[in-house]
Amino acid sequence: MRLILFGGPGSGKGTQASFLVKEWGIPHISTGDILRKERAQGTELGKQAQTYMDQGALVPDQVIVNMVANRMVEADAQQGWLLDGFPRNVPQSLALEKMLEKIRQPYNYLLFLDVPAATLQDRALNRAKEAAAQSEQKRSDDTPETILKRVHVYEQETLPMIEIYKSHPKFVHIDGTLSIPEVTAAIQRQIGGES
Ligand code: AP5
Repeated sequence: MRLILFGGPGSGKGTQASFLVKEWGIPHISTGDILRKERAQGTELGKQAQTYMDQGALVPDQVIVNMVANRMVEADAQQGWLLDGFPRNVPQSLALEKMLEKIRQPYNYLLFLDVPAATLQDRALNRAKEAAAQSEQKRSDDTPETILKRVHVYEQETLPMIEIYKSHPKFVHIDGTLSIPEVTAAIQRQIGGES
């Protein structure tokens, strides 16, 4: 199974991805997680990404496209994958289509978790509050200002790309405002899997 998960910041991509990768036995390729790992390890890529992430801006396309291309040729990604957080704008979507054609790995579904901007902001702020309450480390981009910026970037850059994908035969619209189990069930109804 090859899945691409779209949605705004806080739409539930990470939450649903964790169920889907278990169910289908595929690797979870999250560009945000890879970047956070690179930052934690203090690599050149991590340092380069830090400023953009902390400002809620997108990391430059070429950096992301190279990073994903390198990840997709790893052994565990040959039988399937779930892409979370990539592509995020029109140039990235064009680069992905080319990449997949080259490695002959067509995707099965494009899943869009549709959540309005106001709910996205509330969820990200709640996640930051929950992390603080449980003494976990809060994500450095979960501040009110950065969340606003990330939602703005989503509206400006990601939604136009999703508009193009909407007419694609593999595009699946999911109401992301439902509860977590309801969203999981809605995805399962569309793509199959245990209920
Ligand atoms: P990334 O890590 O991808 O963050 P994001 O897209 O902003 O998404 P989040 O991880 O914040 O949210 P999510 O949709 O996974 O929701 P979650 O399940 O956690 O990217 C971070 C940064 O990296 C970017 O800003 C950018 O700088 C850079 N980057 C990454 N990819 C890039 C790319 N392709 N190009 C350029 N730069 C890139 O849920 C959020 C909260 O809501 C949780 O508390 C959860 O419990 C709750 N929740 C989830 N579902 C529900 C529900 N149905 N009902 C109620 N609550 C829910």
